[in-house]
Amino acid sequence: MLRFFFVLLAISMVFAGVPTNEETKRLMDHLSDAEHYRNEHHNKQFDHDAFLGEDQAKTFDQLSPEESKRRLGEIADKIDSDQDGFITLVELKDWIRYTQKRYIDEDVERHWRQQNPNNEEFVTWEAYRKNVYGFMDDMDEKELKAPNSEGFTYSNLQKRDRRRWTYADADQNDALNRTEFAAFLHPEDHSSMRDVVVLETLEDIDKDQDGKVSLDEYIGDMYNAGDGEDEEEPDWVKQEREQFTGYRDTNKDGFMDEHEVKDWIAPPEFDHAEAEARHLVFEADADADEKLTKAEIIDKYDLFVGSQATDFGGALARHDEF
Ligand SMILES: *[C@@H]1O[C@H](CO)[C@@H](O)[C@H](O)[C@H]1NC(C)=O
Repeated sequence: MLRFFFVLLAISMVFAGVPTNEETKRLMDHLSDAEHYRNEHHNKQFDHDAFLGEDQAKTFDQLSPEESKRRLGEIADKIDSDQDGFITLVELKDWIRYTQKRYIDEDVERHWRQQNPNNEEFVTWEAYRKNVYGFMDDMDEKELKAPNSEGFTYSNLQKRDRRRWTYADADQNDALNRTEFAAFLHPEDHSSMRDVVVLETLEDIDKDQDGKVSLDEYIGDMYNAGDGEDEEEPDWVKQEREQFTGYRDTNKDGFMDEHEVKDWIAPPEFDHAEAEARHLVFEADADADEKLTKAEIIDKYDLFVGSQATDFGGALARHDEF
């Protein structure tokens, strides 16, 4: 069974007065056999985001189950590109690629316009900084050093953005054109940004900031033991411990360093769209013929899309079409 790991990056723009920037970046590209089952909500959200793209997944969350199923049926017809009544692994993989690309393109376009209202060729770091972090200029030392809920301070976030900016700035003129800005905003989608993604991931998990990931930090990032001290650790957590010791920590020094983190989150030639397609087929394929019918998909609609648990949201749902 494939399981997926995704990293929540603290983002730059969370604190800005700029609207629509509250979303958290998810590194869809960085999968491993680490995640998927750690948290019911996250798991479903991951599948929904992969299948629909983040924006559309949010729309579906507002729908009644009936409306959600109806729209899913329309999507199923679309995915079946040769119209033979079966959705194959390849058709599903192509669909996932398409929705991911659509989401990223729209996201880049939205942010680019926001940061570059006069449609210039470049956005300079100084302009970006002012726009996103300008509010820091009015803060005192104490406010600047106060960590947010994810443990980041404003100064940390700005520093992290600054570094990512430099990585994205291919021609090193300290300003980003649209292509470079896309790499900055979605580094997970650009192989040239691998190294900085690895660094950011490592820093997220490395709570004691010694530059490497211990077993406790590795587990702590996926599993919160909570208060129940005598509660037994779930099996998947035990398996993760074995994964860490047996595979992740390749040089057996008890820690994952930068190289080991890289092998973990960015294995070469891993196709996340295909992995996700396989996962969805496996979960929904009631008659085990390795392809899906529309009925099989609708039957498992909560695997593919979200909806309101009750019909309450139905009346409120907007009726925008796909
Ligand atoms: C942006 O600059 C890069 C070089 O840093 C170049 O390869 C790319 O084509 C440029 N993109 C646009 C949209 O001009």
